Order: sequence, then C-alpha cells, then structure tokens
Amino acid sequence: MSFPETRLRRLRATPALRSLVRETSLKPDDFVMPLFVRPGKGQRRPISSMPGHFQYSVDELLKAVREIAAAGVPGVILFGIPDRKDSRASGAYAKDGIVQRAASAIKDRHPELAVIADLCFCEYTDHGHCGVVKGGKVLNDETLELAARTAVSQAKAGADVIAPSGMMDGQVAAIRGALDSAGFGMTAILAYAAKYASAFYGPFREAAESPPKFGDRSSYQMDPANLREALRETALDVSEGADMVMVKPALAYLDVVAAVRERFGLPTAAYSVSGEFAMIKAAAQNGWIDEKKAALEALVSIKRAGADFILTYYALEVARWLG
Ligand code: PBG
Repeated sequence: MSFPETRLRRLRATPALRSLVRETSLKPDDFVMPLFVRPGKGQRRPISSMPGHFQYSVDELLKAVREIAAAGVPGVILFGIPDRKDSRASGAYAKDGIVQRAASAIKDRHPELAVIADLCFCEYTDHGHCGVVKGGKVLNDETLELAARTAVSQAKAGADVIAPSGMMDGQVAAIRGALDSAGFGMTAILAYAAKYASAFYGPFREAAESPPKFGDRSSYQMDPANLREALRETALDVSEGADMVMVKPALAYLDVVAAVRERFGLPTAAYSVSGEFAMIKAAAQNGWIDEKKAALEALVSIKRAGADFILTYYALEVARWLG
C-alpha cells in the first residue's frame, strides 16, 4: 500500500491520536540531577554559565535535594569542590571529604534517593588533571590506586553508586576489586564508558573549578571522531564489572548511545552535559528559542536513541514541567 491509501498524517490529526502512537516519553524518573557541593555553611553560589545552578554547602544542598526528591527525580550525582587542592587529590578520598559528607547527609534524610558519587580527581588536584601527574604526563596505574581508595571512602559514606569519570584504563576493575574487598559488594558502578574530550564541558569546569592548568584531556578522554573505540571502551568496562554504562556528552553522540545500548544491553545512561544545558538556556534567555520545547525535544531524542536514564541539569525543571 502506498499513497493515497496510506496517509501517515491520519495519526497526526489530533493530540489524542498523537499521544496514542507516541513511541518515547519522558518521566521524572528518567533523570539524575548533577549537584555541586562545597565547604562552608549557608553557601549558595550561583554558577554564571549555568543559570539556576549553584555550588551549595551541605546544609543548602539538602534543601535543593528535598525539592528534587519531591519532584520525583530518583537520583543525584555529586561533584565536590574541596577546601584545598594538592598533587595527590587527597580531598577526594578524605574521610570527611566534601562528597563523603554530602553523600552521608543526603542518605540520612533521603534514604530512598539514589546517590551517585562521581569519582574523578580533576576537582581535587592542584594541576586540574584527572590523575597523578609526573613530568607533565597523567599516569594511569598510579591513579588507579587513588581511585580504589576514593571508591571505598565514597561507599563508606553511603553512596549507592560509584561513577568513575577519569577515563583511566582499568579503573572499573580497580574499583570493583577494592569495593568487594572492603565489604561493599552491593555498591554499584556506573562507568563513564565512553567519555569524549569535549568542548561542551566548558560551564562544568567553571562550576567545579576544575580546568586543567596545562594541556588538555585528550590523552585520556576520547577523540570525538571515534565510534568503534567507544565500543571497545564499553566492552572493557563491562568485562571489568560495570553494572551500568554511560555515554558522555549526549546530544552530539546519539549514535554512540544507540550503538552502546544495542550492543551491550546493559542499563545505559547518557550525560547531557553542562554545555548542552547552557546552549539552550542562553538561547532561551535571548528569546531565540522556546526553552521548554527545546529542552524536552533534546531530552526525548536522547531517550529515543536508547538511553535508559539521563543525567541532566534540567532534571528538576523538566520533572516539574512533566509533573
Ligand atoms: C570530571 C568531569 C567533567 C564532567 C563530569 N565529570 C569535566 C571534564 O572531564 O573536564 C563534565 C560534566 C559536564 O560538563 O556537565 N572529569
């Protein structure tokens, strides 16, 4: 059958018909909200490139988390800005580290929420790289030891999920081994399996105060041109014990999301990063784009590509729009 018997417009004729044949939909429980936590009390410092987002002290963070939970968003991912940075990233695995304190405070008040701890060192090192640096190089195997320690301290603090984002080879195996030997066999790993060296992280680096002091991250994060390599990265993380895998960024990498989801069948997340959020916000603030429609369209495209859930700075706003 073809035209004129077949007319695809028939099912687009009314809102009711369109809703019946809609293939993908968004719900508040598709989202995870990224949050930035810093030391102090009563702190709520605006992040200029991410309107509506703040660096919170733990007390203020709890207020934000209450709203997020009330809107039906099931998870948060925590990024820390420590008091001081050093060459060994000691703030990342300190017992009273900022993410550790935030995780335990959140689990205390909201045990039902999934607390994901991002595990990376760029926010904690004085040079801003995601690992131990010697002679201007980011060392892989030396960084794994720190990753293992950090994972255990985050799990002790109550994190349900550890999300290593440093793109060191072997990090998932190192973390799984350390968690298991420390008695945290039930702590899950969300692997940033395919994380690209992306310009879309710009606003995040302001938010997390984490830009590298020299060079860039291209010796560990992936080349945006590569898809087959993303599948190799993901295969390794799966074999090392990842419970869930993630592709990051999302919008410019929907083909990667689709391929990872199709090939591995593990729960697949996509991280719609700071620059994706900032582009829509900025255009909307200029009156150049309909924010609500644009944000929903971007997010539904990520889900349509195959993401089971989405880390997005729009989590709270969208959950409210949908609610
Ligand atoms: C840390 C990290 C980054 C992001 C998440 N974890 C920045 C980077 O790799 O430079 C970016 C998230 C975003 O842009 O929203 N390694």
